[in-house]
Amino acid sequence: MALQQVLHYFFTNPILFVYQIIQWVLDKVLSPTPPPPNAHLSRPKIAIIGAGLTGVSAASHCVGHGFDCRIFEAGSRKALGGIWSKVNNTSGLQIHSIMYRFHPSVRWKKGYPDRHQIVSQITELWDRYGLESKTNFNTKVTKVYKDPRGRWIINDPSNGRFDGVIVAIGTCGDPKVPHIPGQENFKGQIYHSSQLDGKKAKGKKVIVIGGGASAVEALEFVAHEHAAHTDVLARSEKWIIPRNPLVDVLLSLNVFGEETIFSWIPEGLLRLFFYRDLYDLSPPPNTKGIYTDTPMVNDDVLDLVRSGKASWQRGDIISFDDSGAGIRFNKRSQGVPKGGPGHEKLLEADIVIMATGYQRPSLDFLPGECFEEPYQPPNWYMQVFPPKHVDICANNCTYVNAIGTVGNYHIGIYTRFLLMYLVDPLARPQEYWMKKWIDMTIWIKRKAPGGAFDFFTYGELIYWFVFTIAINPFRWKWAFFVLFGIGSALPMSVVKQEDRVRNGLGMNMHICQGLTRTSHLTQ
Ligand SMILES: Cc1cc2nc3c(=O)[nH]c(=O)nc-3n(C[C@H](O)[C@H](O)[C@H](O)COP(=O)(O)OP(=O)(O)OC[C@H]3O[C@@H](n4cnc5c(N)ncnc54)[C@H](O)[C@@H]3O)c2cc1C
Ligand SMILES: NC(=O)c1ccc[n+]([C@@H]2O[C@H](COP(=O)([O-])OP(=O)(O)OC[C@H]3O[C@@H](n4cnc5c(N)ncnc54)[C@H](OP(=O)(O)O)[C@@H]3O)[C@@H](O)[C@H]2O)c1
Repeated sequence: MALQQVLHYFFTNPILFVYQIIQWVLDKVLSPTPPPPNAHLSRPKIAIIGAGLTGVSAASHCVGHGFDCRIFEAGSRKALGGIWSKVNNTSGLQIHSIMYRFHPSVRWKKGYPDRHQIVSQITELWDRYGLESKTNFNTKVTKVYKDPRGRWIINDPSNGRFDGVIVAIGTCGDPKVPHIPGQENFKGQIYHSSQLDGKKAKGKKVIVIGGGASAVEALEFVAHEHAAHTDVLARSEKWIIPRNPLVDVLLSLNVFGEETIFSWIPEGLLRLFFYRDLYDLSPPPNTKGIYTDTPMVNDDVLDLVRSGKASWQRGDIISFDDSGAGIRFNKRSQGVPKGGPGHEKLLEADIVIMATGYQRPSLDFLPGECFEEPYQPPNWYMQVFPPKHVDICANNCTYVNAIGTVGNYHIGIYTRFLLMYLVDPLARPQEYWMKKWIDMTIWIKRKAPGGAFDFFTYGELIYWFVFTIAINPFRWKWAFFVLFGIGSALPMSVVKQEDRVRNGLGMNMHICQGLTRTSHLTQ
């Protein structure tokens, strides 16, 4: 870019200019160098299941640090990008992209990128790290098991043998479309919220079923299409928080990952300054705290309600009306629980949008012992490592609710935890201690309404990372590598020395059951 263009950009978009500089620095400092074409990558070799942003980012970290991998994706080449390859063109990030840096080399052009930009960043990453030759499309993983030498097989031995597995199948599979009684009588159109491209809503009465993030997106879509009026039917309480990076980061930094005696402060501030006159749309005090469920991040919903273009209706759907004109709905007041008494009415509609979510992809292909009670997902070590198999990392697909972000630095951190465990037997946690850590977390969060691992914050995640490194002195040498992706030379050389000592003492043995020898892994 010529100097004149740079100056012009600086003066016309000073904030975006600074954002570009920050991203450039993060890229230069934290991105692993892509391997040259045909580079010989070493073991451990990692199988990665899913080619969404988690799988692609994890793969680029593996090859960037010199380790081989293979991605297995159920869909065709068009599925590269995972859920973002399937949603509406108008879909985009609600949180600021500074919290959606799924790889250090990502370069966002704006604060709130749309689906096209997200898919193109995933695709560029995939290209940059030469992952095309390492991706098997149209390969749904149905079985993951070990050969007699303890190496992982994905579906069948023809796919090769792996030392570790990263499961990156996400939480949004096929659209969930429940059948509502009387639906067949409806005279208008019914769509799922992910199928709105090209749909016209001008002058129409719209009903959106569901009170989650997709409902908010659907409401924005039809408002933009100049619908006459939209009713959003929400049967459960959910918090809406502003689209403000500072507020969102501050909320995500609660290191306890649950309600505390101070939670009334953010809740009160949100009611006072964000909900304001629409106070009764917030979850009633002393019922659902902000640190119990994933909030929606949005600024427009409340404004659309204030303008009269939309109504946010709390209550339960009874059925579609026999007349075909709309939905019979039991509207509840604030504080009345689901299914409780209310005021029944007919809501007329030309279009009904099912913003009822997505099926959760199944982890059933993993060995049965990963699901032993009470250590079933999300109750795994750091939420992602099943205690029976520390060589499996199920990233971004075991969580239930959180205040945080799915597409951020933790993808690289978890990948490097796995690499550390595979390369360094002394840093590897044993099943006993993994279970103790899970038990400890469950005990600490025993008062959390949904359970210890069903809700967490990004602050808590950072605490898990730091704690589990600090607790084991053999992991200290890896701290910079695991947390920032830099400085692998020192721990690698220490591990090689330790290997040599072990070999000299005749201790070249399986340090951790089921894992191959360290000397073999670091070859
Ligand atoms: C409209 C929309 C907006 C969103 N906005 C945000 C947001 O603002 N902030 C945020 O943090 N999150 C958001 N999310 C959540 C989103 O799911 C994550 O941000 C992220 O894209 C998940 O990426 P992933 O790679 O983990 O999973 P996915 O993108 O779901 O990719 C998983 C991949 O695994 C493949 N797969 C599944 N099962 C198998 C199998 N058995 N074998 C092989 N392959 C398999 C799938 O085909 C898919 O390609 C949004 C979701 C939606 C639907
Ligand atoms: N840009 C964004 O930030 C964005 C946009 C879209 C999606 N997402 C993410 O994608 C994931 C899925 O979000 P989502 O909104 O699609 O799904 P969701 O969070 O599962 O919400 C689905 C909503 O539909 C309701 N519902 C389901 N079945 C129903 C039925 N039979 N009758 C009435 N209501 C019903 C649910 O109510 P109950 O809660 O009572 O079950 C819930 O309110 C989330 O992780 C979300 O954060 C993010």
